[in-house]
Amino acid sequence: MVMFLLALAAAAQTVPPGEDPVAPYAQHDANAGAVPFEGQTMLRAFHGRVGIDRMTDDFVARLVADKRIADIFKAQDIVRLRRLLKEQFCYILVGGCAYTGRTMRDSHKDLGIQAADMGALVEDLQGTMRKEGVPFSAQNRFLAKLAPMKRDAVQR
Ligand code: HEM
Repeated sequence: MVMFLLALAAAAQTVPPGEDPVAPYAQHDANAGAVPFEGQTMLRAFHGRVGIDRMTDDFVARLVADKRIADIFKAQDIVRLRRLLKEQFCYILVGGCAYTGRTMRDSHKDLGIQAADMGALVEDLQGTMRKEGVPFSAQNRFLAKLAPMKRDAVQR
């Protein structure tokens, strides 16, 4: 019975094209690490699903090119990271997505991330949001929503 359930779980988590397989885990929106905003104001400020996808593409490009933190992303699955960041941002901004990735703690636990790395990531995200034309107040609301994740991403 246990083997059957494990096989079912593995089959349910088929690997999307271009991604590497990961060990099976329980999928849940709560893994996104934040409760979504209420209403549609934030979604509009980020220009809907199209804006979120465009912004995340730009954000990931900045992360892997950022000399301060690029090494952390080397040899990682950037296709998967990009897909899950889109899902996570879309879920939090009430764009109608489910988040299917791992928890913030599980996905960052072996990466040795320091507080300064988190600072660099936030600067890159600010650059992305500025480029997307997200109003400053909405930028700050979004950053405040992500801020508590620092304790799970940064190594203690
Ligand atoms: C608010 C802060 C952060 C958020 C919301 C976030 C979000 C995510 C998400 C959604 C994933 C994919 C999870 C999965 O594969 O199941 C991920 C993985 C990853 N994150 Fe973050 N992250 C944050 C901070 C950071 C920082 C500061 C760094 C390094 C500078 C970083 C580097 C990575 C790397 C390298 C992966 C890929 C790990 C792997 O493929 O095993 N993250 N992150």
